[in-house]
Amino acid sequence: MRHFYVKSTIGKTCGDFNLNDTAGGAGRLDIIARSINSALWLSHSLRRDVNFHTILFGEPNPPIYIEIVGDKVRKVQPDERNITIFIKKAIERFNEGRFTQTTPGIYSGRRTFDEMIEKHKDCDFYLLSEGGADISDVGISDNAFFILGDKEDLTAEEIAVCEKYGAKKVSLGKVPYLSSHCIGFLNVYLDRATEKKSVD
Ligand SMILES: C[S@@+](CC[C@H](N)C(=O)[O-])C[C@H]1O[C@@H](n2cnc3c(N)ncnc32)[C@H](O)[C@@H]1O
Repeated sequence: MRHFYVKSTIGKTCGDFNLNDTAGGAGRLDIIARSINSALWLSHSLRRDVNFHTILFGEPNPPIYIEIVGDKVRKVQPDERNITIFIKKAIERFNEGRFTQTTPGIYSGRRTFDEMIEKHKDCDFYLLSEGGADISDVGISDNAFFILGDKEDLTAEEIAVCEKYGAKKVSLGKVPYLSSHCIGFLNVYLDRATEKKSVD
């Protein structure tokens, strides 16, 4: 399995935003929609071995955790608008008392960053950071859980949680890239490593 988490620093936690204003009124949910596209889509199919995670920390009801399970997701199209419609449903159908499947393969519930990491403690965590060790020097496991910021990096408290769970800091170089571009690169980089292993 491959997991990607992208923090949503100001992602709106009520569904009253306009789908034509995802970069404004929705609290930069455009970043999350693009990251989901990069995490899950191949040409003509979905990556069934990838799960995507985000936590929305915007007003009025944070934190809302959303998980997309690649193996179960259905009906979502790869364009940003369509992906955002499904994020909106995950927010609108959020249930305080119960982790809920809001549409096939998409779930929402109340979960903090620490709780999400604890729930996936069997994974190997990698914190994406320009200042980390070069990816070519880090062995990436087959059960990788990648953690990324959005327009802002993680807070010191969140980084401390990552460190507590043994996360390795991994760099794709000194240039700061968009979260969605980092995810696209990681998917291709790992696909190529897998292809190479199967030839050797
Ligand atoms: C748009 S960047 C965040 C802000 C960026 N650190 C800056 O100073 O402009 C989004 C996230 O992508 C990841 N990221 C961006 N560039 C990276 C790189 N060169 N190596 C590793 N991770 C990177 C980090 O997790 C970062 O929090």
